[in-house]
Amino acid sequence: MYIDERCLITENRFISGRTWLLKVKAPKISKNVKPAQFVMVKGTFENQYDPMMRRAFAIADVEGDELLIYYDVYGKGTEVLTKRKKGEEINILGALGKNLFPENFDYYLLVGGGIGFAGLSLLMKDLKRKEVPFKALYGVRRKDQLSMLQWIKDNGFEDDVIVYTEDGSYGEKGLVTRDLEKLATENKNTVLAVCGPKGMMKAVASEAKRIGVPAYLSLESKMACGFGICIGCVVKDKKEDTYKRVCYEGPVFNAEDIEL
Ligand SMILES: Cc1cc2nc3c(=O)[nH]c(=O)nc-3n(C[C@H](O)[C@H](O)[C@H](O)COP(=O)(O)OP(=O)(O)OC[C@H]3O[C@@H](n4cnc5c(N)ncnc54)[C@H](O)[C@@H]3O)c2cc1C
Ligand code: FES
Repeated sequence: MYIDERCLITENRFISGRTWLLKVKAPKISKNVKPAQFVMVKGTFENQYDPMMRRAFAIADVEGDELLIYYDVYGKGTEVLTKRKKGEEINILGALGKNLFPENFDYYLLVGGGIGFAGLSLLMKDLKRKEVPFKALYGVRRKDQLSMLQWIKDNGFEDDVIVYTEDGSYGEKGLVTRDLEKLATENKNTVLAVCGPKGMMKAVASEAKRIGVPAYLSLESKMACGFGICIGCVVKDKKEDTYKRVCYEGPVFNAEDIEL
């Protein structure tokens, strides 16, 4: 059940690289958010429609009745969002997404690429609360793209996260897949929970297949409606030889089942 809510902006500020942090009061949506769920945000004022469609963002965290959204600025939809100020109201639809990360594994290896890490942060909180062991890998090209580093520190996750930068400007030098085989095979009944750019998810999925560890991918296809009616976000389901709507039948899929 999703809710269309007018939310008060409590913070909207530049973090680093191309990332901004948006905090909104969403007393209704925030009540029952699960890891991997997302929202559709209308960046413009109520009577403005350019751009027309809302944009999809992961719910990176819930603090009381506030939702935290980390967003990278690419085009019109996110550019317009940077203009919105504290104290203004914004329209948000959520929480969306029904098929979420599986809960029946003994060890979780979270693999986040770039802003995709925001699709895993709630899962980290959930696993910690349930005392399920996990490690999170956070990969970016350069240090300035580590926009969730402060969130990691503020929430006491420093020992749970290994950071990889391609240029070695922070943490481990290399790709987020560098130590995947070792980390994914040292504990029994391990699952990979993955979110990030397509190329990175493909690489993780192929490595997971090679080493025989299941991988669940939280997909971030382009979305127009976000709730199943426009058929704009489909992914091929190889297993069932059909197409699935990422917003409605996802956003999480077993990597074995889909064609990326
Ligand atoms: C379920 C879901 C969760 C998401 N969560 C987040 C999130 O937490 N934070 C976040 O920043 N984004 C997230 N995204 C992606 C986000 O929806 C898009 O980046 C956003 O819609 C871009 O809108 P725009 O109007 O700024 O760009 P558009 O005008 O749509 O695109 C402008 C240009 O930028 C390119 N572009 C757009 N988005 C991306 C991208 N993500 N990577 C590379 N190139 C891109 C387009 O191809 C185009 O060339 C999520 C998407 C989905 C479906
Ligand atoms: S975004 Fe419209 S069906 Fe998924």
